[in-house]
Amino acid sequence: MCGIVGYVGSRQGAPLVLEALKRLEYRGYDSAGIATVNGKGLSVERAPGRIAVLEARLDGRYPPGTTALAHTRWATHGAPTEQNAHPHTDCAGTIALVHNGIIENAGALRKKLLERRHVFRSETDTEVVAHLIEELYDGSLADAVIAALRSIEGTYGLAVVSSREPGTLVAARMGSPILVGIGDGEHFVASDAAALLEHTRSVVYLDDGEVAVLTRDGYQILDRDTAQVEKAVRTIDWDLKTVERGGFAHFMLKEIMEQPESLRNTLRGRLLDDAGTSRQGGINLSDDELLDIDRIVLTACGTSWHAALIGEYLLEELARVACEVEYASEFRYRNPIVDEDTLVIGISQSGETADTLAAIREARQRGARTLGIVNVVGSSIAHEVDGGIYLHAGPEIGVASTKAFTSQVAALALFTLHLARLRTLSVLQGREFVQALRHLPDQVAAVLDRADEVEAVARQFADATNALYLGRGSNFPVALEGALKLKEISYIHAEGYPAAEMKHGPIALIDHQMPVVVVAPRDGTYAKIVSNVQEVKARGGRVIAVVTEGDEEITTLADHVFTIPVTLDALTPVLSVLPLQLFAYYIAVARGCDVDKPRNLAKSVTVE
Ligand code: F6R
Repeated sequence: MCGIVGYVGSRQGAPLVLEALKRLEYRGYDSAGIATVNGKGLSVERAPGRIAVLEARLDGRYPPGTTALAHTRWATHGAPTEQNAHPHTDCAGTIALVHNGIIENAGALRKKLLERRHVFRSETDTEVVAHLIEELYDGSLADAVIAALRSIEGTYGLAVVSSREPGTLVAARMGSPILVGIGDGEHFVASDAAALLEHTRSVVYLDDGEVAVLTRDGYQILDRDTAQVEKAVRTIDWDLKTVERGGFAHFMLKEIMEQPESLRNTLRGRLLDDAGTSRQGGINLSDDELLDIDRIVLTACGTSWHAALIGEYLLEELARVACEVEYASEFRYRNPIVDEDTLVIGISQSGETADTLAAIREARQRGARTLGIVNVVGSSIAHEVDGGIYLHAGPEIGVASTKAFTSQVAALALFTLHLARLRTLSVLQGREFVQALRHLPDQVAAVLDRADEVEAVARQFADATNALYLGRGSNFPVALEGALKLKEISYIHAEGYPAAEMKHGPIALIDHQMPVVVVAPRDGTYAKIVSNVQEVKARGGRVIAVVTEGDEEITTLADHVFTIPVTLDALTPVLSVLPLQLFAYYIAVARGCDVDKPRNLAKSVTVE
């Protein structure tokens, strides 16, 4: 998704912002651009494709200027061409602007500006904002930006410079993250703290409706009424190494292998052994309030939605509370039935997914209490919910989500345990659950230690064109997740089904070429899934099964097996998903795919 970096100080801005922008490459983008301002005017350079293409064009001749902006764009309005790349400028070429988000009334604004004889050079919604600022400029860039924002409907994180005020940078936020980085005699803006780690760890996160005005000597944060706002300066505790690959070939593999640690971090300090329960400091709901909840709605997108499906299973099975899972994109438009006794939990790695954020807002408007299960601290969803559980899984950079998924399931298990102990679960059952959770990170490490076995099997399936994933109970969402991982990074068509549904249609697809991945740990549905495997084998399908250590029946039937250690039925998804993450990864590598940046995908989807 789009990335913004801005700089004002005494160093040359162009090389600095371009380097910083590279830290945001992981988010996915399809064009890049920079603008610099100096005493002589504004220079803008843009190129479709990667930042490397832009750098090649510049060939070391960076436009001079100690105020600079840079942007990576992920196309929404208009193709990923040079004309549509940011920064966008006004007619006179005095204003340059970069923008993340969508200006919803761009059409109407464009029409008015055309009537005022503005000349547009792109198909983007963003360009209208540059012209609007030009129209409203009356000696102060900050005032012109604030005035322009009053006419805008939609979402934005934006940054603007002008050749008329070469030492000023103005940034604003509405629904798309922007933060200010504080340096010594220099200031920065960025859409993501990762971009600034090399330069500063002191940051101020803007809230919706706020505008930041930066010069080399200071910064001011203003609200919608241009009143100055005092904001807390936060310290970022990630170091640069955390956002680098740590010696792995891809971020995705690094993040898969980090799961013992990321899970430990999710569980750290939250398990209470004697009481057989868990504590979550941030949920902001008393035990009485938790007991008043009569229904839980889990809402999310993509991989997080799969975690939600496992959460539904956990909550209904253990806490005996009615639970539903909704795609956030559907929930927000569905006239959902929620009231003050409903708890709506938004699950999101990035905390920025537009649909999940909108679903949370919808739920709040209807009086529901809201929680967020989120990885990125200070993200938009984390800001808007009544309380929540941070995953503490560390930055996830590979576009395909892996460690966030297992941490989401762990966080849902922690929350379930808390609720279940209040409602139905005995202290002994609670203690057993706590022990199983404590044991999980080591079990995850044991599964990952055998990654080479998965790699050897994956190589044999690198030429597959389709794959079917089957599972039952809480391992049905794991089948969905395995199929999603495969399709998004290897471009092999894959579908997940509850195993018993196969005979209602998909069985027609099975022949000797069709790989069928069966998630079949020894749990309450094992006997049933054995029959499903037999059905596949009877039709010549090639079966790859995830089974529990010591399994004999499916191991005899299947062509290949990956084993996982024994845990409680409810927690098997945390283990059974691991071979499927690795399987997708190794197949994608064998096919030569760009694993960390699959085509057409972005790390966080901040548009509808
Ligand atoms: C798939 C994947 C996506 C995300 C989805 C939601 O590997 O990463 O499906 O899970 O876009 O993103 P978050 O969790 O950031 O809300």
